[in-house]
Amino acid sequence: MKIAIGCDHAGINLKPELIKYLEKNGYDYTDFGCYDTASVDYNDYAEKVAEAVSKNEYDKGILICGTGIGVSIVANKIKGIRCAHCHDVFSAKMTRLHNDANVLAFGERVIGKGLMSEIVEAFLNTPFSGEEKHLRRINKIKALEDKNFK
Ligand code: RB5
Repeated sequence: MKIAIGCDHAGINLKPELIKYLEKNGYDYTDFGCYDTASVDYNDYAEKVAEAVSKNEYDKGILICGTGIGVSIVANKIKGIRCAHCHDVFSAKMTRLHNDANVLAFGERVIGKGLMSEIVEAFLNTPFSGEEKHLRRINKIKALEDKNFK
């Protein structure tokens, strides 16, 4: 599984912990930045990661900012992206089962590395349920996207 990751300056301390987790578990990943503590716009990194996933260059994306909110709002503006903002393991698991989320977002100012690892593990290891009702709802999201982002 190929994973695109990114953060802004407010996610710069948690990202190395994410990288440690990905490397320890043998994931193939690309870090789209940022790479230091200089203040940046979360928009630019969320857009890069979401576009890479949208173009199917990566299977999933993981984004970090201070709260996880800014990056998730941006990612969800990119066609084909279903970004889930999760700070608990249950939500990370359910968003895979029900929403087939392809990008995960969380905030360094909200969670620590232990919980982050469990959330990432649930997100990366839970398959989409494939149930008809969930597929139908995802298809409705796609139709809405087509209607609004021509
Ligand atoms: C940066 O200060 C902060 O606003 C950003 O990381 C994020 O939390 C925005 O949603």
